[in-house]
Amino acid sequence: MTPRLVTTVVELREALEPWRGGPIAMVPTMGALHDGHLSLVAEAARHAPRSVVSIFVNPTQFAPNEDFAAYPRTLKADMAKLAGRTDIVFAPSAAEMYPDGFATTITVGGPSAGLESDFRPHFFAGVATVVAKLLLAAMPDVAVFGEKDYQQLLVVRRLAADLGLPARIMGAPTLREADGLAMSSRNAYLDAEQRKTAARLNAILKDVIAKTGNDNADLRAAEQHGVKALLEAGFGKVDYVAIRDAETLAPIATLDRPARVLAAAHLGRTRLIDNMPIA
Ligand code: PAF
Repeated sequence: MTPRLVTTVVELREALEPWRGGPIAMVPTMGALHDGHLSLVAEAARHAPRSVVSIFVNPTQFAPNEDFAAYPRTLKADMAKLAGRTDIVFAPSAAEMYPDGFATTITVGGPSAGLESDFRPHFFAGVATVVAKLLLAAMPDVAVFGEKDYQQLLVVRRLAADLGLPARIMGAPTLREADGLAMSSRNAYLDAEQRKTAARLNAILKDVIAKTGNDNADLRAAEQHGVKALLEAGFGKVDYVAIRDAETLAPIATLDRPARVLAAAHLGRTRLIDNMPIA
């Protein structure tokens, strides 16, 4: 069945009201849905019999030089993909989310420091503000976010804990194409040549993990290897390849705790990110 489409917070709350006796899950998205998003919706269904998917291209998480205007908006196709998978799609307008006079920004510290913030300083305040608004609008018991945006997942967890939002924040594994490229709505920007090169990102992260020894010099050398390999593969600019504490994203000098390698690199006008656990 096609999900019910609602566009205002009032309608959303009315639609969810009859199901408040049991758990409700939410999957916040910006639309242009692919199988990776659908796997988040499937994860939501494992935790709650009812779910809502939000589709909102959030202007406050884009800098003026970024792809807000070009970001794909495919609501009709998204609704069709969600048929039989969720109950409600919440697709608010920008005016619904940010009415005239809107003047609140939520800044999360902790895991938002560094990495993405070094290159997209506006990003996590935009994400935290909109995610708080979405979670307050729907008041789900569970909210599912992809590990593909690993730093975002940790920032959202911190946000929910610090504000006492009742939703349990669940991470779901990254879905990949057959050649290892992490699924992303932005992959649609890549031409055929860039698409081939893009698959190297994940392969190089695996090499970095394979080269990761246990002391500080080994870890830094593995990161440097990753940067060099990405440039050699044809990425135009590498923002970072970093081995970090998997829970805090703080820099680490030894692999004495769960760690993660994270990377961001540019192919033409497209910026790709990926990350993997270091077992
Ligand atoms: O990951 C995304 O698609 C967005 O950053 C999110 C969490 C929906 C907030 O706009």
